[in-house]
Amino acid sequence: MNLKQYLETTISAVLHKITGETNCPALVNYAKDPRFGDYQANGVMALAKRLGRNPRELGAEVLNHLTLAPVVCKLELAGPGFINLFIDPEFLTATLNKMDQAQLVARADNPQTIVIDYSSPNLAKEMHVGHLRGTIIGDAIARTLTYLGHKVIRHNHFGDWGTQFGMLITYMQELPGGADLHNELANLEVFYRAAKQRFDAEPDFGERARENVVRLQAGDPDCLAKWESFIKVSIAHCQELYAHLDITLTEKDIVPESFYNDRLEAVIISLTEKNLLTESAGARCVFLDGFVTREGDPQPLIVQKSDGGYLYATTDLAAIGYRCKELLADRVLYVVDARQSMHFQQVFATAKLAGYAGPDNTLEHVSYGTMMGKDGKPFKTRSGDTIKLVDLCDESIERAFTLVSSKNPDLDEVERQHISALVGVAAVKYADLSKNRNSDYAFDWDSMLSFDGNTAPYLLYAYARIRSIFRKAALAPEAHFNINISVPDEQALALKLIQFAEIVELLAETCLPNQLCLYLYELAGTFMKFYESCPVLKAEGAERESRLGLCQLTARTLKQGLELLGITTLEQM
Ligand code: ARG
Repeated sequence: MNLKQYLETTISAVLHKITGETNCPALVNYAKDPRFGDYQANGVMALAKRLGRNPRELGAEVLNHLTLAPVVCKLELAGPGFINLFIDPEFLTATLNKMDQAQLVARADNPQTIVIDYSSPNLAKEMHVGHLRGTIIGDAIARTLTYLGHKVIRHNHFGDWGTQFGMLITYMQELPGGADLHNELANLEVFYRAAKQRFDAEPDFGERARENVVRLQAGDPDCLAKWESFIKVSIAHCQELYAHLDITLTEKDIVPESFYNDRLEAVIISLTEKNLLTESAGARCVFLDGFVTREGDPQPLIVQKSDGGYLYATTDLAAIGYRCKELLADRVLYVVDARQSMHFQQVFATAKLAGYAGPDNTLEHVSYGTMMGKDGKPFKTRSGDTIKLVDLCDESIERAFTLVSSKNPDLDEVERQHISALVGVAAVKYADLSKNRNSDYAFDWDSMLSFDGNTAPYLLYAYARIRSIFRKAALAPEAHFNINISVPDEQALALKLIQFAEIVELLAETCLPNQLCLYLYELAGTFMKFYESCPVLKAEGAERESRLGLCQLTARTLKQGLELLGITTLEQM
């Protein structure tokens, strides 16, 4: 149990004991001002109100029954009934000295099987900035859950099936004689656009494209071969980007839409058996209470078109069955754009009704907002095209190179290139991760590459700076130091370090990486304050050793935290 959980459970138990009430959370949170303690319990007031009792009186009674030693050294009742909690410095000392070298946060007591569906672009087109957020956020969540010891199954639910491929196959079939397919596919974006142009302009091309979809679904060898050659190129392109961005998705994680093809018919059969299907204009639909269109009409979830074709939703229903019943997932996370929220609500509700997911399988849409340009409109190039991810990464690295060169002109060029390759990617990732994913996000080069504020360069620099202390003192990074907390700035840093576990566990629950970013930023700030007021290398004896220990633990925490976010630290910047 982490410190916050310990306080929450212990105080809640006392509230229960005194009042006999069952639902009485202590509502423990961080204190805003260190003068009023390190944590605050706010639950007394709500409970007193519920019971019609005087909150200060109830608070006093709670204090009489509460034993939090040796963790808490001082408790006080404040204002209308808050309980202020001061953590004992000796407890901090003991905890820090016990922090295991292998892992800063304990593994989960009850590891779960968690499927996480993220990135999942459509393969018909090249990946563009619209896929960046889901890829980066999903990867941070996957890394964190893995770190906590859960069994994490990454699913890249590539869109590799459906009408767009009929169009692409037809375009391939009708390339002029002598055209080299390999060359044609060198630029997927151009290829897709050319195919789309024909599709839009020539009605009979469109007709042939639709026929090819049917052929493809029926397993026609030529269509399949063309489809496969296209998919192969497109996947290679995605994997290259993942490598470039240090995303942990591998080819083994690809479980695309086509994987579910031979399970779709069974979905229709079982929905029919369960009386969940309604026919509407020839299509088969699921109508559920509570889902209405903007006009107030019932909103169907269409699972089979009138021509027999299956849809995106059908595949998602089959995928839920696979994930919950075969992979035995306790939790399935969908890191997907907020614009699909209605789709997921309908699919989840249908899956529960149909029994594809049981009561113990949690299905969560981890949604995120749109990436905007500085002008507040969806992020585009100057000519109005969507920005390709490769270009975005290249530009970030270039900008980082200029930045690093201006900060550190004496460093040799190879070294500067190495640093900027990491900083460029880190800046793009961190800028996204540090914002609440539920909001739209404004992309802005200047702020993401700034050395001030809650940015990747700031944190990477803070880390490198601590490492330089150890270089200066010629100490091995893994040397053991005995910590002994005495002054307030040491104490503040110690407490912050212990809270890493609370934040990582919270992230695993809420899937909000911005909480970890904020923590790391605050940790770096708390460290700077300590470093300014407490001499380290100039201190002597046990004090020097203890402060080196705090530096070391801060560096380890920053490195680990950034790693969970998918960011690699640098020893020198
Ligand atoms: N391919 C979809 C898109 O680009 C996202 C898929 C998300 N995952 C899912 N199981 N529906 O919009």
